[in-house]
Amino acid sequence: THVVTDACVLCKYTDCVDVCPVDCFHEGPNTLVINPNECIDCAVCVPECPTEAIFAEEDVPADQQEYIVLNAELSQRWPTITRSRDPLPDADKWKDVKNKIIHLIK
Ligand code: F3S
Repeated sequence: THVVTDACVLCKYTDCVDVCPVDCFHEGPNTLVINPNECIDCAVCVPECPTEAIFAEEDVPADQQEYIVLNAELSQRWPTITRSRDPLPDADKWKDVKNKIIHLIK
């Protein structure tokens, strides 16, 4: 599977959802996640993300491993998103900030 990581938090640009052939993105208040049971590992979403938030599971950085479980868990209860929408209002401000997991609203 692929995994949405820390860089998405507080940004949620949503460019990724338009290209997903299996609609495996799910939307929370301030980030997206991928359902690992739906993702087919095509990787087309990876270059679409302006924050480079999406990794193949085996390539998730060591300090972001907790996002693997977060994607699996939160995708079970957040609704599917299949069309891009406007980013969060302060997305450009948060784009390059690290360790945003403390702001992740579940
Ligand atoms: Fe998030 Fe990047 Fe998609 S910021 S919503 S993973 S385009």
